[in-house]
Amino acid sequence: MRVLLLGTAAGGGFPQWNCACPLCRRARAGRLPGRTQDCVAVSGDSRSWWLLNASPDLGAQLLAAPELAPGPGPRDTPLRGVLLTDAEADHTLGLPLLRGGPGLEVLATSTVLGAVPLRDAIDRYTPWRWTALVPGGAAHELVGGLSVTVHQLGSKAPKFVDSPATDGSWVSALRIAEPATGAALLYAPCFGRWTPALDALVAGVDCALLDGTFLSADELGTRAPGARAQRSMGHLPISGPDGSLSALARHPRVRRIYTHLNNTNPLLDPASAAHTELKAAGVELLPDGTELALP
Ligand code: MLT
Ligand code: MN
Ligand code: ZN
Repeated sequence: MRVLLLGTAAGGGFPQWNCACPLCRRARAGRLPGRTQDCVAVSGDSRSWWLLNASPDLGAQLLAAPELAPGPGPRDTPLRGVLLTDAEADHTLGLPLLRGGPGLEVLATSTVLGAVPLRDAIDRYTPWRWTALVPGGAAHELVGGLSVTVHQLGSKAPKFVDSPATDGSWVSALRIAEPATGAALLYAPCFGRWTPALDALVAGVDCALLDGTFLSADELGTRAPGARAQRSMGHLPISGPDGSLSALARHPRVRRIYTHLNNTNPLLDPASAAHTELKAAGVELLPDGTELALP
């Protein structure tokens, strides 16, 4: 299985357009590597590619990946479709950019499919296939030698949804498998809690791409007591006794990589103490454009 990290930042990217914090200033000045919003491409045969989430930066991300270039016919594309972990704007606003692309399929839970922005408008250009995946259900085959299962992680709906179903499968992990080789990838860029189910998912893959939005719970400020959980917006922080990094110590044989980094995350500076600690723990943070080969 080939895995392309097209983008590795949280909503807003890095630097974020309206942020003049020291990290964003340094990125804007070219002194720290910038990151586009999280998006991954996977393939089993190098001919058919599937996107995991469709970021608003998709146009630039596709241009930067020769594997995803169109051809040989004038309108041929190796892109077969998009799998979504959730319906958040930073994971779905790339879909309208693909409008008019014939034969594309979008797969996600029915809750997420029902909330995709501009879905009806997209179908007016060229009807797509919208395939509902059941959390915990059977593996769904993807053209090109891969399969997917979806695993519910949370029920936090995007802000733009009116009166969302509180019990909906709003946030999931995607497990991409390659039956021919036994390779497996876990993609989970959003989770608010480390659960036994998530632990088992990480244990069962070669490589896990995980929510690295915030290094610490108070990264967005701690002015209001008790507001911590809300301020970290449903994202479990990396550090601290209950953070994701301590849970990841249980899985030394899995390749563990953080993605979906917020522009406030000190890890964005490779020279930071936090980055040194991460390396010592055997967990990675990779630049946009990195290709991984599994197993
Ligand atoms: C999130 O990751 O929590 C969402 O993308 C937040 C947002 O963009 O509103
Ligand atoms: Mn996000
Ligand atoms: Zn910033």
